[in-house]
Amino acid sequence: VKEYDYLIVGAGLFGSVFAHEMTKLNKKCLVIDKRNHLGGNVYCEEKEGINIHKYGAHIFHTNDQRIWDYVNQFATFNNYINSPMSLSKGKLYNLPFNMNTFYQLWGTRTPEEAKAVIDEQVAKYGTKSPQNLEEQALSLVGKDIYETFIKEYTEKQWGKKATDLPAFIIKRLPVRYTFNNNYFNDRYQGIPIGGYNVIINGLLDGVDTKTGVDFFESRSELEALANNVVYTGKIDEFFEYKYGKLEYRSLRFENELHEIENYQGNAVVNYNDTEYPFTRIIEHKHFEFGKQSKTIITKEYPEAWDQGKEAYYPINNDRNQEIYKRYKEESLKLNHIIFGGRLAEYRYYDMHQIIASSLAQVKEILGLSSNRG
Ligand code: FDA
Repeated sequence: VKEYDYLIVGAGLFGSVFAHEMTKLNKKCLVIDKRNHLGGNVYCEEKEGINIHKYGAHIFHTNDQRIWDYVNQFATFNNYINSPMSLSKGKLYNLPFNMNTFYQLWGTRTPEEAKAVIDEQVAKYGTKSPQNLEEQALSLVGKDIYETFIKEYTEKQWGKKATDLPAFIIKRLPVRYTFNNNYFNDRYQGIPIGGYNVIINGLLDGVDTKTGVDFFESRSELEALANNVVYTGKIDEFFEYKYGKLEYRSLRFENELHEIENYQGNAVVNYNDTEYPFTRIIEHKHFEFGKQSKTIITKEYPEAWDQGKEAYYPINNDRNQEIYKRYKEESLKLNHIIFGGRLAEYRYYDMHQIIASSLAQVKEILGLSSNRG
C-alpha cells in the first residue's frame, strides 16, 4: 500500500485546491514544489510589513458566486478596486478606456461627443479585414487611443512591432461611455486581507507539503509514494521535450524600497512610452491600503524567455498550439496522472478560472469513481 493517494506536483492554486478537496474526502495528499515556498505565482513575500506580489500583481475578481464563496472560506477580502493609471506621452490618464480617459484625451464631456470622435477615427483609419495588431486596434478604437495607450505598450510587452503581431492578440478593446475607472466588470473583486498566502495556508492546512523539491530530480522515488500524480508543471518538460519546447514570454521584476510613504498614489501605473523599458510600476501597499512609513515599488520588464527564466505568458501561435496538442494527446494516455493548471495546460488562466478548473477536476474524478461503483 502506498503512503499517499495523491502526489501533487506544484503548490500553486490548482494543486492547493485539489489537495484541499481531496483531503476533505480523507484522501492522503503530498504537495511538493520546486520553489522554496508554497503558493505558486500568487505567493506574497512580506517586506517592511508590505505584501509584495512576487510574481506580478494579482487582483482577485470573479462573477461566479460559487468561486467567491469558496475563496471567502479562507480569507476576508478588502474592497480594493483595480483602477490603473497610464502614463502616456507625459500625461496621466485613467484606464480602462472610459469617459474620464476621453475627457483627458479630447476634452469631450458627453458620451455622444466621445463616441463621435471614436467613430470618426475608426471610419478614417480602420480596415475591413485587419491583417495585424495595428490594423486591428485602429479598426476598433481609432488612432488616438491606439497611439496613446496601445502601440508602444504592446510593442514592449511582446518585443515586436505592432505591425508584426497577429490581429487576434486583441479580440476586443472595450470602451465605456460612463465615468467608471473600475478595470474589471465582475461582480466580486478584492485582495485577501493579509495577502494570498492566507488563502494558500488555509487550503493546505493539514496537508503534507515539501518545498524545494523538484519532481524531475527524484521522479521514481516520488512516484513510488503515491497511487496517483497531479502534475501542474510544464507539460513539455514532463515529456522531456520530445515534440519540442513550448515558448513563453517572461517578465523581470525590479523592486525598489523608497523611504517615503507614498510613491505614486495608486497600486498600478502603466508606462506606455518606449522611453521607459518597463511596462508598469506596482506600488504594493495600495492593494491593502497600507499606511507604512516606507513603500516598495516593482518595475515590470517584459523579457524574452529561455529555459532559465520564469515562464509567464504562453505564446499562442500555430507552432506552439500544434506542439501542445501532441503533448496533450500523450497525457491522455496516462490514466494515473492528472495534468492541470496554467503550465500543464499551456494557457493563461485567471485565478478564479484555475480554482474552477481544479474543482471541476475533483468532481470529474469523483464522478468516475462513483460510476465504477
Ligand atoms: P502556478 O504557476 O501558480 O503553480 C505551479 C507550481 O508548480 C509552481 O509553484 C512551480 O514552482 C511548480 N512546479 C513546476 N514544475 C515543478 C517541478 N518539476 N517540481 C516541483 N514543482 C514544480 N490572475 C487573476 O485572477 N488576477 C490577476 O490580477 C492576475 N495577475 C497575473 C499577473 C501575472 C504577471 C501572471 C503571469 C498571471 C496573473 N494571474 C492573475 C494568473 C494567476 O497567476 C494564475 O491563474 C495562477 O497563479 C495559476 O495557478 P497554477 O496553480 O496553475 O500555476
